[in-house]
Amino acid sequence: MNAAVRAIVRTAIHHQLLPFGILRGYQGMIEGDIFELKTTDVSNIIQRGGTILKTARSKEFMTEAGMQKAYEQLQRHQIEALILIGGDGTFRGAVEFFKKYQIPAIGLPGTIDNDLNGTDETIGFDTAVNTAIEAIDKIRDTAEAHDRLFLVEVMGRDAGYIALHSGIGCGAEQIFIPEQKESIEEMIEMIQEDKRRKKLTSIIVVAEGDEIGGAQGVSQILKERIPDLETRVTVLGHVQRGGAPSSRDRILASRLGFGAVEALLKGRTQEMAGMINDEVVFTPFASCVKLQKPMSSDLLEMIRVLAK
Ligand code: F6P
Repeated sequence: MNAAVRAIVRTAIHHQLLPFGILRGYQGMIEGDIFELKTTDVSNIIQRGGTILKTARSKEFMTEAGMQKAYEQLQRHQIEALILIGGDGTFRGAVEFFKKYQIPAIGLPGTIDNDLNGTDETIGFDTAVNTAIEAIDKIRDTAEAHDRLFLVEVMGRDAGYIALHSGIGCGAEQIFIPEQKESIEEMIEMIQEDKRRKKLTSIIVVAEGDEIGGAQGVSQILKERIPDLETRVTVLGHVQRGGAPSSRDRILASRLGFGAVEALLKGRTQEMAGMINDEVVFTPFASCVKLQKPMSSDLLEMIRVLAK
């Protein structure tokens, strides 16, 4: 997100605009935590994880009074357009805000879950996947040394993209994701077959939102069905949301930040800037949110083949 903030500020200044930062998203907008951002304020941040602007969920912004306060703060600072970095909640808020106050807004997809339509990847996704793969590689060393089956839980409350991509990248034997109903019987059969072949090390990647109940849920079933199997559970958690961004994320965020300012200048509004096939494209907010992005069944099939 810092790479995006940097790109937005510098592109705006290039076009003789006056950029402001708003701390903690909509909540900061309501509370007037708004300040001018100069070019030097965004120096030395492209390599930093997190966001210098901080982030928050705002219940108040969902109320009419909250929106009114936010609007008054924007007026006070003579802010004429918004660039919003976020996911589902951010864009839903933007749609409601625009209905009332018509302030032009462009969004950038900022979520590690990659669950927004209108972009091949969201900002943070690639870094999160790389972090997960790095951790799972280390877990595999122990799995291998002790002949154990590891269940590794990665983030993704409603989406299995981190699980799918990190699973492929670390050579997982199986993945569990919310988008697909897994067959427990198939997993049991696979493990039994592996035991017969004396393949005793396995990594199963589970998305936290998987309906079986995350890695603990799968572990419970395994304990009941194959009691002699040595399993361990590792939950990677928020480690996936931090750290220096990957080159791919930095480039994505820079291009989208740059594109967002140019789009506002061309009169676009209520759209999210995304990257599809290496091109910056714009999709209406309403079409980006909570539509389950199709999950490639080819990739799921590939995992089965490569795990043998
Ligand atoms: O929405 C992104 C996400 O990383 C989810 O995958 C995860 O469930 C959630 O955030 C965690 O949110 P919090 O830090 O508020 O617990």
